Amino acid sequence: MSFKLLTSAPAKIILFGEHAVVYGQPALAVPVSQLRAQAEIIPTGQPFRLVASDIDETLPINIDDELVDNALAHMARLTLQTLKVAPPNVSIVVSSQIPLASGLGSGAAVSAALGRAIAFATNGTLSNEQLNRLVYEVEGLHHGTPSGVDNTVIVYERPVYFIREQTLETFSVAEPVHLLIADTGKAALTKVSVGDVRRLHETDPAFTQPLLDAIGRVVQQARTALESGDLPRLGALALENHHLLGQLTVSSPELDTFVQTAINAGAYGAKLSGGGRGGNMIAFVNEQTAPQVESALYAAGATRIIPITIEP
Ligand code: PMV
Repeated sequence: MSFKLLTSAPAKIILFGEHAVVYGQPALAVPVSQLRAQAEIIPTGQPFRLVASDIDETLPINIDDELVDNALAHMARLTLQTLKVAPPNVSIVVSSQIPLASGLGSGAAVSAALGRAIAFATNGTLSNEQLNRLVYEVEGLHHGTPSGVDNTVIVYERPVYFIREQTLETFSVAEPVHLLIADTGKAALTKVSVGDVRRLHETDPAFTQPLLDAIGRVVQQARTALESGDLPRLGALALENHHLLGQLTVSSPELDTFVQTAINAGAYGAKLSGGGRGGNMIAFVNEQTAPQVESALYAAGATRIIPITIEP
């Protein structure tokens, strides 16, 4: 009889607080458990092989080649070093259902699934805390100095109220919260928008600091709205957060159109999510308004819409 040894990690979406979270403000993010990255362990009795089956990596990946700037090889090396073990005699095949470069955390999820697979295959114990640190380090390869919100929500797979370098806090919702995640189809690198905000902050802190502080206040109010089930208030806060992000220069004409389209079609509110300048917009809807908001967003050019529900 053969059976599959699989480890996995979910996608994520930032609800409130992106960008400001880099400067110490809180952010709210949730896992998207229906979309996952997976790592399959195939016992071979042969030297370790790491294979990326459907993501944009060459296969197989050589973990001994220190010169290769490859996130998966880096994650494998770091995990083996942390566990203080030799590469196991297995093949690990990594795959992901999470769209790439769209703010859904595909890279961090793949790293988390791989770290878990290596721990499993070597009979090692890797706590979520250790895994979180390793995934953060690998994320840093491609994203400069990330706040850590992405890896945290993905590794712990819980809704998080995240403040940089502070103990993890989770939150819960009083009512089911229905969201539509709409992709503009325009790829935008988080690293670039984060770098632009940093330059703006360095050159004109008198302009940016009040915006970052205002986002922090919106996040706190949004947490209260989520915890008390006040969805109209949550929607209004989403719009406020979107406008503040626009002033930080990270919106785009497409994102602004999507936000307006969602509101016109009956959403409580909407905002960009993640790095911005493209990527995804999220709309807060309910079961009645979801279908009309979804079709309006497709008509406005959305290339993919993922519905999710945050359950109490
Ligand atoms: O583009 P995403 O979803 O990976 O989000 C990045 C979130 C930022 O706040 C813009 C950056 C960060 O490191 O927190």
